[in-house]
Amino acid sequence: MRESQVMTTQLVLPNDTNQLGNLLGGTLMHWIDITAAICAKRHSGRVCVTASVDELNFHQPVKLGEVVTHQASVNRAFRTSMEIGVLVTAESRRGEGRRANNAYLTFVAIDKHGKPVVVPPVVPETPDEKRRYAEALQRRELRLRRRRGEER
Ligand SMILES: CC(C)(COP(=O)(O)OP(=O)(O)OC[C@H]1O[C@@H](n2cnc3c(N)ncnc32)[C@H](O)[C@@H]1OP(=O)(O)O)[C@@H](O)C(=O)NCCC(=O)NCCS
Repeated sequence: MRESQVMTTQLVLPNDTNQLGNLLGGTLMHWIDITAAICAKRHSGRVCVTASVDELNFHQPVKLGEVVTHQASVNRAFRTSMEIGVLVTAESRRGEGRRANNAYLTFVAIDKHGKPVVVPPVVPETPDEKRRYAEALQRRELRLRRRRGEER
């Protein structure tokens, strides 16, 4: 898991904010998506596309001038898909850090014809990685049930 981890950092600039000086949700989603895509590509060695994004909640605003860091890792690889977890932290102008958000995305590795291709497994090593690996399977089952329309 460690080998494909990705960290990206952004400074929240005026063009990234709304009238209240808060980071736009869509911009944050874009940064999350890009960080996760790099992580999926690093793990699989393939071009990867976003198949789905789980529920995303915005608990606290991120303000103009704050520094946003996204940490992505492959929680688990399945056959052609991978669950990528992204942890978002915000750092105030005074240098105080806080957890701002977290997201789970499913990426699928594709070949040059756009067809899904098999990806290598991930090896969880630490207790935290093993927990995320186990939970990823439960989330996948829920996700696929929703996709089939069995749950709302
Ligand atoms: C994602 C995509 C490649 C899947 O292709 P597909 O023909 O449906 O392929 P499959 O049904 O064989 O699914 C392939 C894998 O994707 C997973 N998958 C497909 N849709 C999913 C979804 N909505 N949520 C989670 N996983 C999904 C399947 O479970 C399968 O995983 P596995 O091989 O690890 O078991 C295809 O739907 C696609 O190209 N979508 C557009 C992607 C895109 O443009 N994204 C940018 C954002 S708009």
